[in-house]
Amino acid sequence: MKKDFLSISDFSREEILELMQKSAELKQKRIDHVTHHPLKGKSLGMIFSKHSTRTRISFEVGMFELGGQALFLTTDQLQLTRGESVEDSAKVLSRYLDGVVIRTYDHADVVNLARHASIPVINGLTDLNHPVQIMADLFTIQEKLGKVEGVKVAYLGDGNNVTYSWMLAASVMDMHLAVACPKSHQPEMPENMGSLGKVELLEDPMEAVQNADVIYTDVWVSMGQEDESEEKIKRLQPYQINQKLVDAANDGALVMHCLPAHRGMEISSEVMDGKNSIVFDQAENRLHVQKAILEALLSPRKQ
Ligand code: CP
Ligand code: NVA
Repeated sequence: MKKDFLSISDFSREEILELMQKSAELKQKRIDHVTHHPLKGKSLGMIFSKHSTRTRISFEVGMFELGGQALFLTTDQLQLTRGESVEDSAKVLSRYLDGVVIRTYDHADVVNLARHASIPVINGLTDLNHPVQIMADLFTIQEKLGKVEGVKVAYLGDGNNVTYSWMLAASVMDMHLAVACPKSHQPEMPENMGSLGKVELLEDPMEAVQNADVIYTDVWVSMGQEDESEEKIKRLQPYQINQKLVDAANDGALVMHCLPAHRGMEISSEVMDGKNSIVFDQAENRLHVQKAILEALLSPRKQ
């Protein structure tokens, strides 16, 4: 049976820990220049209807490094935008490809694609969630702190797709997540929340960062929501990650951002370039973690 990765809750805690272990092995192999081609001869389709730097490049390079190839397919060039249904497209793509990554707006389209495809479908971001990002974030925290269980993450800013996946991850991996957003921009509450850890929704950013091991933020205006920007930016000003908020967290608290960043808005340049920031290690880890996910989903199943 094929397995999709549409949401953090598609993997159990044990499977996530195994993927993190595999990511560490793949990272070490790359450092040691060890060739590893488990996906030789396989093709990954990458359907994107939104911009991307990290997701696109890390999946393309990752697939190449695993011995396969990736095809970057923008929706404006596919028959999908000329009326071919998601269902028919899923059936056709399944005849050529070994897996698909899709980045789009409506999460329901990704669920529909996965339902009608006989190959694994990986969610590369929707308006609802961003699970591959949060898998890489978990790995990065594990790498830096030696564990994820019991770690307190303070998420500040807009309650969005990244927040949603973080809420799920904290509840599956036994973490403490304090989300601080204005009431008007709180995140959607995920279905299938795990039963572990603690997820708090707060309004006060100072309260959220108390005893935090990690302070996390994302853009204030997500792709496709550009018309909300002016009003939102005003309300979100107190949630900027700046030195004052970093100083209020635990000593040495890690600063994370999924990127792209808008310096001077959700994060100050001083903090982004400061000693607590691990944003570029976090970006690099997208490659290692997505390779682990590709290998797990696209390799022939062990009997
Ligand atoms: N963080 C992230 O998904 O970046 P891109 O939008 O550049 O892919
Ligand atoms: N919340 C952002 C994440 C970008 C990686 C967006 O959806 O645009």
